[in-house]
Amino acid sequence: MSKEIKTIGILTSGGDAPGMNAAIRAVVRKALTNGVKVKGIKKGYQGLLNEEISDMSAASVADTIQRGGTILGTARCQEFMTLEGQIRGAEICREHGIDGIVVIGGDGSYKGAQALARQGINTIGIPGTIDLDIACTEYTIGFDTAVNTAMQAIDKVRDTSSSHERCSIIEVMGRNAGYIALWCGVANGAEDVLIPEKYDYNEQNIVNNIIHNRKKGKTHHIIINAEGIGHSTSMARRIEAATGIETRATILGYMQRGGSPTCKDRFYASMMGAFAADLLCEGKSNRVVGYQHGEFIDFDIEDALNMQKSIPEYQFKVSRLLSMSL
Ligand code: ADP
Ligand code: F6P
Repeated sequence: MSKEIKTIGILTSGGDAPGMNAAIRAVVRKALTNGVKVKGIKKGYQGLLNEEISDMSAASVADTIQRGGTILGTARCQEFMTLEGQIRGAEICREHGIDGIVVIGGDGSYKGAQALARQGINTIGIPGTIDLDIACTEYTIGFDTAVNTAMQAIDKVRDTSSSHERCSIIEVMGRNAGYIALWCGVANGAEDVLIPEKYDYNEQNIVNNIIHNRKKGKTHHIIINAEGIGHSTSMARRIEAATGIETRATILGYMQRGGSPTCKDRFYASMMGAFAADLLCEGKSNRVVGYQHGEFIDFDIEDALNMQKSIPEYQFKVSRLLSMSL
């Protein structure tokens, strides 16, 4: 029989992502509407272990939906990887009267949530990562904002690339996944897209492509390089030496993680937050929220962690095809 839920906690964990605040706001306000108290836990699992816990009201999340980052702060916490840390985390929850926790983060954070659930604290995960690398969901909080920020930055680099007739290697984030790179590759009309899932590490192909395009009259050559491949600066040096064409590397970095969330990130994050609060209030545990085929759904954490995700073959092929020389 599921236990009665009187108080829930909420935390954000792992890398911050634009839209996390919209999810926090929705969790808080939906839970309060359901008659359940909410406590905010600062700085992820580290803040839980440090007991950085305080009551949240509808007012504590006012004026936050438009803000990037996470108002709760986030952290990576080694101690929570240990059984002792997890047992202590659950004890702290009980001491603070917390019956369940919503965890907003990526796969790693889900493992922490699973560990807490094993220690008797109900948990629900919400996918929060700019990387889009969570298998059980087509949407993760922050990807839309990140990819739009990257797209706008790449358009700007392209202007300079064209003016100077240079080749540009632009490195985007994504950890080991190539979703940001793939989407920018298409949206920015890049000549090459290097993603970890597909790259053959044959730089000669890139060199040939640059020379071919230059002969065809293209004034710029944009290569989107995923972080999972990396080494953009040394790659630029090698490509310049091989082609004789000035080549520069631009690493977009944290600008992709920050900034005001897009409408899509605010909307989906709000729906996921409300959905997660409802699941927790109903006494559900060890579940994660996902979005598939137009619907918000939930999965067992173990099942979600065992799912595989890969770059859709058709999307990758089309991305290559659309970058053809005229
Ligand atoms: P993300 O949630 O974005 O995947 P991380 O992989 O860095 O980010 O994980 C965030 C935090 O989740 C870690 O710092 C740790 O506190 C917790 N975590 C990750 N893996 C585990 C695990 N196997 N067991 C318990 N907690 C974990
Ligand atoms: O998961 C989000 C992300 O920005 C990845 O794209 C990147 O690999 C990683 O976090 C960087 O993490 P850190 O915050 O440790 O620099």
